[in-house]
Amino acid sequence: MPEKHVPKETCQSRKQHPSIAVYPGTFDPITNGHIDIIKRALQLFDKIIIVIAINVEKKPLFTLEERIDMINTCFANSSDCIEVDMTDGLIVDYTISKNAKAIVRGLRAVSDFDYEFQLALMNRKLERRVETVFLMTGFRWIFISSSIIKDAAKHNGDVSGVVPAHVKAALKKKFS
Ligand code: COA
Repeated sequence: MPEKHVPKETCQSRKQHPSIAVYPGTFDPITNGHIDIIKRALQLFDKIIIVIAINVEKKPLFTLEERIDMINTCFANSSDCIEVDMTDGLIVDYTISKNAKAIVRGLRAVSDFDYEFQLALMNRKLERRVETVFLMTGFRWIFISSSIIKDAAKHNGDVSGVVPAHVKAALKKKFS
């Protein structure tokens, strides 16, 4: 007699409901590293909701509307499987409100691990129905962050290849 590790109802419910994950962040601005995570997360989930969430320690360069516009431009042809939104509440509450089952986070280096581990454990304590799924950031994007890119752009550095062209143009405009 095989063991029943997965209840039958779980399998049936999977067929009926698309699997949704939430990808939260500040996205100030979105980078090719974020896009890499989103594309790969789409291989695991039917839909990804990219949600701009408030990180109280950050003072964004771009307004919320500007950040949403830049993300929407990246995924203009994928509106059936990508949604862009914002929240000023807890990310786990947002996740449940959207019937999503997971939070996706990208790990760049060991230095990300402590913070991400704390965040995932706190989120799990707050809401046990939500899992955090970590994806390794692609090798090419391990050393980039929105701050580093903004700093380079501010000093007239060429940020081609680390952000999409429209984000590069938006950075240029901000710093001109
Ligand atoms: N490639 C390249 N860079 C990446 C990356 C990737 N795949 N993934 C993240 N980064 C960079 C980002 O650009 C960002 O750079 P910056 O610090 O220079 O801006 C940095 O890594 C961390 O970014 P991000 O993953 O966006 O995290 P964040 O700190 O901006 O976001 C929140 C944290 C918003 C998800 C978190 O604060 C949150 O959930 N807030 C909502 C309130 C809440 O629920 N809090 C939790 C209670 S326990």
